[in-house]
Amino acid sequence: MRTQVGIIGAGPAGLMLSHLLHLNGIDSIIVENRSRDYIEQRIRAGLIEQWAADMLTETGVGARMQKEGMFHDGNYLCFNGEAHHLNFRKLVGKGITIYGQQEVVKDLVAQRLADGGQIIFEVDDTKVHDIGTDKPSITFRHDGKDQRIDCDFVAGCDGFHGICRPAFPAGALTFYDREYPFGWLGILSESPPPDEELIYAYHDRGFALYTMRSPTLARLYIQVEPDEDVANWPDDRIWDELHTRLGGTRKLQEGPILQKGVTAMRSFVCEPMQTGRLFLAGDAAHIVPPTGAKGMNLALADVRMLARALDAFYKMKKTELLEGYSKTCLERVWKAQRFSWWMTQIFHVFPDEVPFDRRRQLAELDYIARSRAAQTSLAEQYTGLPIE
Ligand code: FAD
Ligand code: DHB
Repeated sequence: MRTQVGIIGAGPAGLMLSHLLHLNGIDSIIVENRSRDYIEQRIRAGLIEQWAADMLTETGVGARMQKEGMFHDGNYLCFNGEAHHLNFRKLVGKGITIYGQQEVVKDLVAQRLADGGQIIFEVDDTKVHDIGTDKPSITFRHDGKDQRIDCDFVAGCDGFHGICRPAFPAGALTFYDREYPFGWLGILSESPPPDEELIYAYHDRGFALYTMRSPTLARLYIQVEPDEDVANWPDDRIWDELHTRLGGTRKLQEGPILQKGVTAMRSFVCEPMQTGRLFLAGDAAHIVPPTGAKGMNLALADVRMLARALDAFYKMKKTELLEGYSKTCLERVWKAQRFSWWMTQIFHVFPDEVPFDRRRQLAELDYIARSRAAQTSLAEQYTGLPIE
């Protein structure tokens, strides 16, 4: 097979890249090691920054999000038994959209297939070759046969556990890493969320987040041990914790729990995000802790940049944007890293904390609740920094 851009991974990064390239008349093929059904059911992020929701709409893949997504102008910070409202729209003129990542994935897969795009699912043993030359290739096994895609560029959109980052030459990468001493237990419940907007709750027993997927489907998270076994969390225990951590500020309705899972929390960046003709995008290059929901948004920002750089290369033979890809992306990545770390450290209870830390966190939350300047800074980052 032959294409212009060989893409590894059909997550939000790989699918959006393929879609943006197609709109610019550039061919791509995606190879994905899971099935279509698996990637369309995988429950992950749910918050889309303003610019990213606009991009989905402007590029023709936002119709269902416009109908089924939930558009929020603000959220609540809850601590000391009180809920404080932040109005992003008034502060920075922007909002956020709640629409599940797997719905974005479904919409992008449908659009790529409708546009004649090629996504090869259920591949094995993916490898990249000759990335230091201008004739790289991808090999893999599919339906029991060895296959090869010759291409001009390879986009490594294969997530944190993919094969593209390890394919960089030895010593070419620097890693910046930080693990957190807690994880999130997330549930999807057939019950109305406690408010129309999201609630971030700080409590002596740990953080809790009350978000949603629809007016009748709540997505709820609680801070737990990093290696927590979900078996230790029967439904009653989860609901008890969720009621307690809401601090009496709202009534929480219970419902059947449809899904439960524990997510580890980590901050990770690799630099640079490119070598020769291989470009990393999304979780393949960086991971943020989920507090503040930057993961999928960063993946979309990377591929928006990569699509522009490839467009400049093919239409005008210009290589500056491609050469500057990593530097440009990393500026945004590090700001999102800082914001995600900051949100994480003000809201979570740390096992090694001293009483000073608790007081400091409460002072910081009280400062945000009362200061327009602090709220503006939070709102600007939460709804998404300017993309240009
Ligand atoms: P991915 O979505 O990981 O896509 C990579 C794709 O590459 C996958 O489909 C994978 O199957 C495929 N792949 C991997 N290896 C190969 C290979 N060798 N060959 C072919 N294909 C391959 N972010 C938030 O903002 N909020 C959240 O609440 C949140 N919750 C999360 C929960 C979990 C359990 C996880 C894992 C992540 C969560 N994230 C969350 C992060 C967010 O989902 C990611 O940032 C986002 O998925 C990144 O998109 P991506 O396309 O870069 O990577
Ligand atoms: C969601 C997840 C987050 O980590 C967050 O900060 C906000 C929303 C969500 O899954 O809806």
